[in-house]
Amino acid sequence: MGSHSSRLDKLISQHTGMNKREIKLTLARQQVWVDDTICTEADRLIGQFTKVVVEDQIIQDAKPVYVLLNKPKGAVSATKDPNHQTVVDLLPSCFSNLHIAGRLDRQSTGLLLLTNDGEWSRRITCPTKKLDKYYRVTLQNAIDDDCIEAFAQGMYFAYEDIITAPALLDIVDEYMAEVVLTEGKYHQIKRMFGRFRNPVLSLHRWRIGGLALPKSLSIGSYRVLSKTQAEAVFETK
Ligand code: URA
Repeated sequence: MGSHSSRLDKLISQHTGMNKREIKLTLARQQVWVDDTICTEADRLIGQFTKVVVEDQIIQDAKPVYVLLNKPKGAVSATKDPNHQTVVDLLPSCFSNLHIAGRLDRQSTGLLLLTNDGEWSRRITCPTKKLDKYYRVTLQNAIDDDCIEAFAQGMYFAYEDIITAPALLDIVDEYMAEVVLTEGKYHQIKRMFGRFRNPVLSLHRWRIGGLALPKSLSIGSYRVLSKTQAEAVFETK
């Protein structure tokens, strides 16, 4: 995902094929620019979006991209899939290099974030950040009141050998609930209602942290977010 910084000499070697001695010389001749400033330090740490020019050749100049998609039912949260349409297939080809920051199941709908910024997606999905994810869920059977306590207590998932983090369950009506998770285990909400033998009929994520799905954004449509808008995901209200 390219979230890590790499040393300047390593980056130059990867992009130009120069050997260590050539790189040393090029640096000493002041022919390397990092974010438009001459740099002579071979060990300078270079981030994913730092511009690097070597002898008039731009070897790195990527801009961060943030996309918010209203995922439709049926699209797979993956960049490639041999059998199904992916969420990346729904975007113009200029976004084919993006990765997903927090997946949704194929039949789930709603807010999905994509980016080329590995640091941003890591902060969104990192378990210790505990970003709230809001889901509206419809169930096949009437919701048992005991679910509220069970979701709040956490459930043991034998496969992962974990107890789920406390989750908030608000019963909206007999068959509809609002669930707030701070993590994203595989099929988590379906498995949690599964304990009560209550199949999930639909699952829609409408908010992650401080970022909500715009009401005007139709299913299958997307918005490009500015850096400032993208950072709003970390604002907790
Ligand atoms: N829980 C699920 O079961 N599915 C999702 O897509 C998200 C949370």
